[in-house]
Amino acid sequence: MNAAGASPMPDQVHQAMLAHFELERHMGAYAAEALANAREGARLEAARLLGCDANEIALTESAQSAWARAFYSLSFKEGDWILCWASEYAGNAVAFLQASTQHKARLEILPMRPDGVVDVYALECVLKSMPKTSRAVVALTHIQTNSSIVQPAAAVGALARKHGAVFLLDACQSVGQIPIDVRAVSCDFACGTGRKWLRGPRGTGFLYARSAVLPQSTPHGLQRSELELVGEPSMIDHVSVSWTQRSAYKLSPNARRYEMWESPPALHAGLKEALALCIRMDPQHIAQKASYLAVLLRRGLASIDGIRCCDAPEQFNEAINDGISRCAIVTFEAFSNLGITSEFVRDALAERRIAVSLSPPSHTFNDEEWCLPSTVRLSPSYYNDESEVDAVIQAIQEIVSSFKASQ
Ligand SMILES: Cc1ncc(COP(=O)(O)O)c(C=O)c1O
Repeated sequence: MNAAGASPMPDQVHQAMLAHFELERHMGAYAAEALANAREGARLEAARLLGCDANEIALTESAQSAWARAFYSLSFKEGDWILCWASEYAGNAVAFLQASTQHKARLEILPMRPDGVVDVYALECVLKSMPKTSRAVVALTHIQTNSSIVQPAAAVGALARKHGAVFLLDACQSVGQIPIDVRAVSCDFACGTGRKWLRGPRGTGFLYARSAVLPQSTPHGLQRSELELVGEPSMIDHVSVSWTQRSAYKLSPNARRYEMWESPPALHAGLKEALALCIRMDPQHIAQKASYLAVLLRRGLASIDGIRCCDAPEQFNEAINDGISRCAIVTFEAFSNLGITSEFVRDALAERRIAVSLSPPSHTFNDEEWCLPSTVRLSPSYYNDESEVDAVIQAIQEIVSSFKASQ
């Protein structure tokens, strides 16, 4: 029950990695790589899943490192805008704080609606009010790490594109859980990770970088106007660029500028299999099965005295929310009124061989949330079934009852 943390790995992913390690054992890593070309294979599958070209994909170690490579290629100067919401992932939020300190970029935390959905109208107002010469990045976390709300990425993307802002989408919790088409959401960058919903190996992730937003090298430097925010990657090597003369280099024309020479091909062989499996399973089917199990979990949790689900505010109403749906992340508060902590519940579930994560609310731009306790996060996926949902609910019921009895 921890696909939002790290999923169990399917056999074909495991086998693909073992097979690559076997090649490395016999031939050495370079010959094995030349034979298997797992890097290219993983790029192709990621592009198929996201609906883009393979040369718009860079392979990275994780979603965060993919996101950071994109963010740190933005050439901030004083007065540039960073527009985001309080739902932004903590790792991204601290990078905003750094950019606002180091480059005096204007960090604007836009309001969330009472139902937990990002206020797109507020974004439109800020974008409209900006002087024509402003440069802005709009950042959105598609699905928050502890929330079931799928934020309206396409509406945000359409506005960002219309107003010439760079749109940076954190799709870490959506890739592999729900369908995502980077062209349809009009993002310039998007990041994903291997080990969560995709069931790939830990230590893998990827970045989508839209070709048209990447400035190109010319003999006179980068082909880019003063109004454009995307610059060079903050770290380069002789793969991200080609060293053309003693004192000049040319950026790779595509997303490869965000990669470096050394890479783990066995992990990429596993990632490739995981991506291919996700495509075969059909993201639409995965989303339906996972969110159906999440509905059963929420229903079961509601029947346990003292439990409060908190993956969406009470005001959230799927029926009136214009296509804004709920996903398979289920978080609940572990009975603070009874004196049971989330840590206690997690450990008691682990003793019963049920894997869950804790989600600390303190990592947020919302001041009032810093003092709240952690929540327990359940995240079923298509490989779970109803009997496992029943077992989890029964286990939580037992944990509560035996705790109460011991008081
Ligand atoms: C929304 C979101 N973004 C980014 C990340 C970071 O992913 P990774 O650990 O693969 O870098 C996470 C991890 O939980 C996440 O939930």
